[in-house]
Amino acid sequence: MTHTWSPESAEFIAPDEDFAGAPLLRKEFSLDLDHGPVRSATLVVTAQGIVEPTINGAAVSQDVLTPGWTSYEWRLRYQSYDVTALVTQTSVLGLALGNGWYRGRLGWSGGRAFYGPELAALAELQVEFEDGHRQVVGTDATWQAGPSSTVANDLYDGQTIDARVGSADWTRPGALLEGWTGVHPVESDLGRLQPYLGPPVRRQETLRPSKVWTSPAGATIVDFGQNLVGWLRFTVEGEAGHEITIRHAEVLEHDELGTRPLRTAQATDRFVLSGGVDTFEPTKTFHGFRYAEVTGWPGELTQDSVEAVVVHSELRPTGTFECSDELLNQLHRNVVWGLKGNFLDVPTDCPQRDERLGWTGDIAAFAPTAAYLYDVSGFLSDWLVDVDLEQAHAEGMVPFVVPDVLKYMEIPRDFPDPDSTAIWSDAAVWVPWALWEAYADRDALARQYPAMVAHARRVEGLLSDTDLWDTGFQFGDWLDPQAPPDDPIKAKADNGVVATACYYRTLRQLAAVAEILGNPDDAGDFAALADRVRGAFQKHYVTDGGRVHSDCATVYALAIEFGLLDDADRLGAGNRLAELARENGFRVSTGFAGTPFVTDALTSTGHLDEAYRLLLERECPSWLYPVTMGATTVWERWDSMLPDGTINSGQMTSFNHYALGAVADWMHRTIGGIAPAAPGYAQVRIAPKPGGGLTWAKASLETRQGVVATDWTLDEQGRFALRVEVPEGVEARVELPDGTQHSLGGGHHELSATVAEAG
Ligand code: BGC
Repeated sequence: MTHTWSPESAEFIAPDEDFAGAPLLRKEFSLDLDHGPVRSATLVVTAQGIVEPTINGAAVSQDVLTPGWTSYEWRLRYQSYDVTALVTQTSVLGLALGNGWYRGRLGWSGGRAFYGPELAALAELQVEFEDGHRQVVGTDATWQAGPSSTVANDLYDGQTIDARVGSADWTRPGALLEGWTGVHPVESDLGRLQPYLGPPVRRQETLRPSKVWTSPAGATIVDFGQNLVGWLRFTVEGEAGHEITIRHAEVLEHDELGTRPLRTAQATDRFVLSGGVDTFEPTKTFHGFRYAEVTGWPGELTQDSVEAVVVHSELRPTGTFECSDELLNQLHRNVVWGLKGNFLDVPTDCPQRDERLGWTGDIAAFAPTAAYLYDVSGFLSDWLVDVDLEQAHAEGMVPFVVPDVLKYMEIPRDFPDPDSTAIWSDAAVWVPWALWEAYADRDALARQYPAMVAHARRVEGLLSDTDLWDTGFQFGDWLDPQAPPDDPIKAKADNGVVATACYYRTLRQLAAVAEILGNPDDAGDFAALADRVRGAFQKHYVTDGGRVHSDCATVYALAIEFGLLDDADRLGAGNRLAELARENGFRVSTGFAGTPFVTDALTSTGHLDEAYRLLLERECPSWLYPVTMGATTVWERWDSMLPDGTINSGQMTSFNHYALGAVADWMHRTIGGIAPAAPGYAQVRIAPKPGGGLTWAKASLETRQGVVATDWTLDEQGRFALRVEVPEGVEARVELPDGTQHSLGGGHHELSATVAEAG
């Protein structure tokens, strides 16, 4: 809901003392008399920092870590809450602040407070009475500020809560508060304020420990059985001043907490007991963890003592997948958990180490998968606003991360100067395109169009005379498994091939978008530019028979899937890709660029069997290797953990990175058999392709048109039976494994075919 802010009603205020980065702000007020009962009360609130609003001590909403993270320089979001049920004749409006992204640590350089030195809040409570009278209580100089029990808080490093500090009384009218101070106004551009476009972050579920034990070094370790993002919550009683320390980690190494992958993130929460019964929940931080090491627990720590609270953006699950191979099911669950952990307000690379940034390339790879698993339209559209803003302030350049904090970080000298880079900057086009395919929201596409064009035009200026994008810095096929652990940029795939292929894809999508938006001139221009780039690609990078320069799986995957090859070359390229897969023993040999497309490229060139072999391979590097190692999320590297149980020595060894999980998109479309035949699934393509020894699979997707579902079995005689559910008013174009085609309308259908070679 859009709110009109006026400096007369409310102004940003900051506490006169910092109160350890977690000040409380309060305002006691009485409702105006003689206007009858309150008809409605709405609180509109935001902060420079994070804010938890209360009225008379009651939480105003379930949201946490609000107002989240946006490109604060130009956009700060606010939330509106209906608080009619909470307001009483005399009330206390409370705002508990924390550092969050605004003033906490961001990035790996150790820097903090990139957006400003001071925490501040802006709130306006609007009360409407029965007789139409309106009363406004806004943040102003009359508010008071005081200490909370949080004595340290940082997203990376953790939170310290001292239950002896602060007073629970602060939310009570008339409370006598010692050590409280005044507040002062803070200059701030109200023009930056915008309502949330996407969902808030909330607690989603809780998990109990699956195991508690003592490590060889004598540490008490709790295993939640699932790598997750959030925090621990517990109620405890013990001596006043006694401290409980909790360290978090995603993995164990040598049976102890494996914290090295967190780099400088301390991920440590501390709780100091009051002497009475204390309930602790550190809501001003978050950790990526499966294991917690608990020190100082009074008495015996059992599975009932603590719980893990899973936190992420509020998203509606829409897609499911299941099949007869339990390892694939676990891989799929890992992809889902990877999304949960990294969709915490911003689509991040990882949720645990001193990074947690909106790396654009990661979501460029993962967006289609995400858009199947959850309704991510609001979440990603919201983030795309910041992509636009960053870009608009950087001459069309889409930065490596959004919100872009790299521009504030002290970056090591060997880090590239920022400029448009393939895949990462292509996120400005690929992500809106993925949303268009899933949801067909024309307005959303139109909103993104200028930014898409700006990106394409900027890259046009970076092409060399040959029309290839073979200039400047590229991440390229980042994290090629054959690159040395400490030099993940040393890929086999030629950067020019990768970048030019990606640019071609971008131009094709952009031409299509221009067409959709009724802009034939642009469509023609981009199509012509695309043709030129394709011609250059073929001339410089493709030799007879479809050999592509640098001859590795990634370049074939991209050339095939992005449509850079003529028919004969495409066939040759597919054969070469299949040959490479076989020669490599079906281990994955692609990095960020090639991995999302390699199974599709094999499938679409007639090598379904090789696609399945690649997917089902268990030796490292492969998708299933981490699953056999007990992974419960998708890892950043195929071998983030080595077969001997030690952690990969590279600096980047997250155990929760969604990018390589993009293969789930292939699983949905090829095993489950569900794909859009028209944007937003206005028409559906149902084409399950059994293989890999699977005997059954089912998938379902709640589209904007209704539920699409498939459910197939394959018996030893090769009898394939398919059940399909199609939403009313939608046409499903079905292709069975024997090649027969059917057109179905809404409803439930059963079809069958005989598959030549079962499995
Ligand atoms: C991130 C990646 C990211 C990459 C770019 C890493 O540190 O974790 O996922 O895309 O840098 O090079």
